[in-house]
Amino acid sequence: MTTDRLMALDLLVSVLTAAAWMSAGVAAAARRPRTAAALFAVALVASLARVWSVLALAGAGWWFVQEKITVALPLLVAAGAAATALAGPRLLRAARRADAASREAVKAPAVAVPLLGAGYAATAGIVQTFLIGYPADPGTALLLLAVAAGAVLGTWRAMSTHVPGLRTATAVTAVAAVLGGTLVFVPSGETTAEGSATGGTAAMAATGSGTGSHEHHSASEGSASLMGAETRPVTDLRGPAAPPPGGAVRRFELTARTATVTLSSGRKVPAWTFNGQVPGPPLTAVQGDLVEVRLRNADITSGVTLHWHGYDVPSGEDGVPGLTQEAVPPGGEFVYRFVAAQVGTYWYHTHEVSDLGVRMGLYGTLVVTPKGTAAEGLDLTLPVHTLGGVTVTGDRDQPLVRQAAPGTPVRLRLINTDNTPHRFTLAGTPYRLVAVDGTDLNGPGTLGRVGLRLAAGGRYDLAFTMPSDPVLLRVDDRTDSVRITPESGPPGDGAAAAKGAGASATADSAADSGAVPAADGQTAGWPELDLTRYGAPAPTPFTSRSRFDRNFTLVLDRGFALTNGRPAYAHTVNGAAFPDIPTEVVREGDLVRLTVVNRGRETHPWHLHGHRVLVLSRDGRSVTGSPLWLDTFDVQPGQVWEVAFRAANPGLWMNHCHNLSHADLGMMLHLAYEGVTTPFHGAHSG
Ligand code: C2O
Ligand code: CU
Repeated sequence: MTTDRLMALDLLVSVLTAAAWMSAGVAAAARRPRTAAALFAVALVASLARVWSVLALAGAGWWFVQEKITVALPLLVAAGAAATALAGPRLLRAARRADAASREAVKAPAVAVPLLGAGYAATAGIVQTFLIGYPADPGTALLLLAVAAGAVLGTWRAMSTHVPGLRTATAVTAVAAVLGGTLVFVPSGETTAEGSATGGTAAMAATGSGTGSHEHHSASEGSASLMGAETRPVTDLRGPAAPPPGGAVRRFELTARTATVTLSSGRKVPAWTFNGQVPGPPLTAVQGDLVEVRLRNADITSGVTLHWHGYDVPSGEDGVPGLTQEAVPPGGEFVYRFVAAQVGTYWYHTHEVSDLGVRMGLYGTLVVTPKGTAAEGLDLTLPVHTLGGVTVTGDRDQPLVRQAAPGTPVRLRLINTDNTPHRFTLAGTPYRLVAVDGTDLNGPGTLGRVGLRLAAGGRYDLAFTMPSDPVLLRVDDRTDSVRITPESGPPGDGAAAAKGAGASATADSAADSGAVPAADGQTAGWPELDLTRYGAPAPTPFTSRSRFDRNFTLVLDRGFALTNGRPAYAHTVNGAAFPDIPTEVVREGDLVRLTVVNRGRETHPWHLHGHRVLVLSRDGRSVTGSPLWLDTFDVQPGQVWEVAFRAANPGLWMNHCHNLSHADLGMMLHLAYEGVTTPFHGAHSG
C-alpha cells in the first residue's frame, strides 16, 4: 500500500476508534448496556487496528508516525486499557442480564467515564495530528493531556456529585495545562538555534538578517568577528556589466502595471501585467548572451520583483524582496543582469506577494537556445496558466492552431505557471520528453498514450517530427491547448488548417496508423509517466552513496503556527512556518543532501532557488532512468524525495513550496551560504 493510502487508512481507523469509545460511553450513560457492550467491543478492535495502522505507517519512515508513537498511541493504549479494566467487567455483566438494575449500573460514572475518557484520549491524538502535526513536542503533548484529563474530570463531575480527589486532580491538570501552554506559546529565545545546529555562527548572519526576526547588523558583525572571515553582502553578488567574449547583450524592458487583457475568445480579464500583456513579453537569448532586464513598476502598489525561475543567476539578481533586494515600488525600477549560461526553458515571475502577483499575471517565459544552432522547425513556448478562472495557453483561452509540413521538427515547451500540477497529453504522434526543467534528459524513449504530470513551476520540452495527421496537446484531459495540423495547401492556407483541425476523418486515419492515438480520442485513461524510470542512466557527479557535507530534512505538514507574525493554520516545515523555520546553512563547495517528506494531504512542488538538484531517490527507490536535474519537484502526499546539489552559487536563497499560496502560509525558508549577509530585513520573501 502507498504511504498516502496508509495515511488515509490510519486517519479512518483513528476516527473510528474515537467514535467507538465515545459512543460506547454515551450508550452506557443512556442506560443501554447491550449497545454499550457492542460498541465497547468495536472500540477494542478499532484500537488494535489503530496500533496496527500506526505501526504499518511507521514502515514509511519515522516522520509519518513520530507524534502518533510518542503521544497518540501511548495515550490511546493507556486510556483503552483503563477503560477495559474499569468498565469492561461491569459492562459485560450488565449486558448479559439487561434488566432494570443493570441498566442503572452501566449509567454509573465508574462505567461511562472510563469509556468516554478513552474516547477523549483517542480524539486528542487526532487533534494533535491535525492541529499541530509534525513534530510532537513536550509542550503540546502536555497541553493535550491536560485537555483530555480536564474533559474526563468535567464529565465525571457532571455525572456525579462526589468525585474523589477532584481538587487535587484539577490542580494537577491545571498545572500541566499552564506548563504545556508556556512551553508552546512562550518563545524559547533559541530562535537562532540553527546557528549551532547547522553550521556555526555565520548562520546567524544570514538568518538574522534574512528573516527579519533579528537585528541584522549585530548578528552579522558578530559572526564576522567570530569567524575571522570576510563577509559579503548579497548585493555584491551581481551579474557582469558586459557579456563574455562572443556574447551579445539582450536588453528588455518590463513595466509592471494593471491592465485589462483580452483573451483570444474576446473575454476580458483584469490582470497584473508586464507591458500590458499576460504572459509578459517572452524573453529569449542565445547561450553566452548577457541578459539585461530593466524592471519598472507603474502601479502595482504591493511592489514587484523579477525572479528567474530555474535560472541559476547570481544571488543579487534573484529578485527576492527582503532578501536580495527591496521590492520595486510604483515609480521605481531595478536592472537585472545575468549571463545566459543555461540552455533551455525557464520562466520569470514576480516574487513580491507572489501568490497573488503570479496568479494575476506577473509572469513570462525565458528561453535560451544553444549557440550556433539555427532555429529550425516549429518551436512553441507554451506557458499554461489559470487566468480569470480559465486555463490559458500563452494568452489564448482557445486552442492555438498551427500548421507544420509533415517531417518538420516540432518542439513544445510546456511551462506550468500555476500553483497546482497539470496533466498534459499529446495525441496524434509519437514523441519524446527531451528536457525537464531546462535540462536535457539522457536517452529519452518514444512516448505515446501517457499522461505527463507537470509540477507547478516545472517545464517539459516535448519533441517530435510532424506526422501527416493532426497532433493535439491537451491539458488536464479537458482543455485542448495546441492543435498542429499538417500543412496541406500552400503555406498560410488558413482554410486548410481549420479543416484539418476539426476533421475527425484524419483522426481516424491516425488511429489506423498503429499505436499512435488519434488526436481526438479520450486521454483520461492514459497512465502517468514515471519520470524516475524514463530515459537511460548516465554518470552523475554524485550519487546517494556520496559523502554529503550537509544533510537537511524538511517534513511538510499543516499546523497552527505564526507566520509573518500572524497566527495561521499554516503550511509548516518541521513544525514551523516562515520566518521561524531555521535557515539551512551551507559553505561554498558543500555537497548537500535534501530530504523532503510530505506528511500532509496536499501536493507540495518543492523549489530551491539558485540551484538545480539531482534526484537521488523517491520513496526510497533510486532513479533508474535518465538522471533527473530539477528545480521544482512534486512532493505528493506521503512521498519522500531525496535530492542533492553542490553548493556552488554563493548567496542567500529561497527554498519553498511553489504552490505559492502554501508559501504565503508559511511554507518557505532560506538556504544561506556562510558569510553572505543581506542589508534587507523584510520579513516576507514572497
Ligand atoms: Cu518560481 Cu521562489 O519561485
Ligand atoms: Cu505546498
